[in-house]
Amino acid sequence: MSTRIYFEEYGSPQVLKVGTQELPEAAEGQVRVEFRAVSVNPMDWKLVAGHLRQWVPLDLPVVPGSEAAGVITEVGPDFEGFAVGDEVIWSGFLGGYRTEALVPAEELTPLPVGVDFEQAACIPVAGGTAYSALKQLDVSEGDTVLIHGAAGGVGSAAVQIAQVFGAQVIGTASEPNHEFLSQLGALPVMYGAGLVERVQAQGKVTAVFDTAGTEESVAATLELLEDLGRAVITVPGQQSKEAGISAVRQMEGRVADVATLAAEGQITFTISHRMPLVEAADALEISRSGHTRGKIVLLP
Ligand SMILES: NC(=O)c1ccc[n+]([C@@H]2O[C@H](COP(=O)([O-])OP(=O)(O)OC[C@H]3O[C@@H](n4cnc5c(N)ncnc54)[C@H](OP(=O)(O)O)[C@@H]3O)[C@@H](O)[C@H]2O)c1
Repeated sequence: MSTRIYFEEYGSPQVLKVGTQELPEAAEGQVRVEFRAVSVNPMDWKLVAGHLRQWVPLDLPVVPGSEAAGVITEVGPDFEGFAVGDEVIWSGFLGGYRTEALVPAEELTPLPVGVDFEQAACIPVAGGTAYSALKQLDVSEGDTVLIHGAAGGVGSAAVQIAQVFGAQVIGTASEPNHEFLSQLGALPVMYGAGLVERVQAQGKVTAVFDTAGTEESVAATLELLEDLGRAVITVPGQQSKEAGISAVRQMEGRVADVATLAAEGQITFTISHRMPLVEAADALEISRSGHTRGKIVLLP
């Protein structure tokens, strides 16, 4: 019997329920994975709240969660590529808030030696999105990248990856996160009134990665950047679209590439909250507050 966290109606994280389920045998092309760590993303509470239903119509009940890491316990018939006992990263769309899952094999990436399950679970969304955005921006040596929302899951991954690509980083965050950003190697800047002047005092920005998507962050990007072709945003809205700022495009191969960076010690996810899977509702409340430092991980 496996445990799953699901919702039958849209609402606050408190609509989440804990249930059990007997999974069938793995079918052709499927693999059964026992999850050891499941990562939480803002998309999860947005999905539960129904904010995405215009774009993603769902047949409820639904199990949220789009990334996890664990161990293969069964492979479907006539399958080659993975074996029982392999440690893997799962990157999908729905269904992650479980103790075990049946997933298509193509959604799995081998877990490199030296990367633990908690770190691995954070790789696809936070790591993959940061990596894709910085590739899209073609960040390299000589660049000074401004990252709006630099202390969050995606932002703190981007701070590290931008430096791997040779860039200097200016990151916006609230004051309590400034030391955290300094430790990651970024120049911290407070968002709020006077943002543009504070950023200009730190250096000339040549590329912007916006993970905040506020009116203020978009307006600052427009003022600070000469070439708007060098701005990417994770939360596109009317203002950013009208300004011609590109939405992030998830890059093929990003999970394996970020896993390699993690194995090399070039990126480490700061996990601010580790919580039992059955406390997923509380985890989503924390995520919904909008001030997560690094990542929240659920432990099945
Ligand atoms: N399009 C995609 O494919 C994609 C992929 C991943 C994520 N996303 C979206 O990208 C956003 C960020 O994701 P995440 O996982 O990094 O979220 P997160 O972990 O919850 O981090 C959010 C960060 O935003 C900062 N913040 C809050 N208010 C701010 C403001 N007014 N100005 C600047 N920063 C502010 C917070 O830092 P302080 O506490 O210091 O304020 C917090 O660390 C979410 O909306 C998510 O849904 C989209």
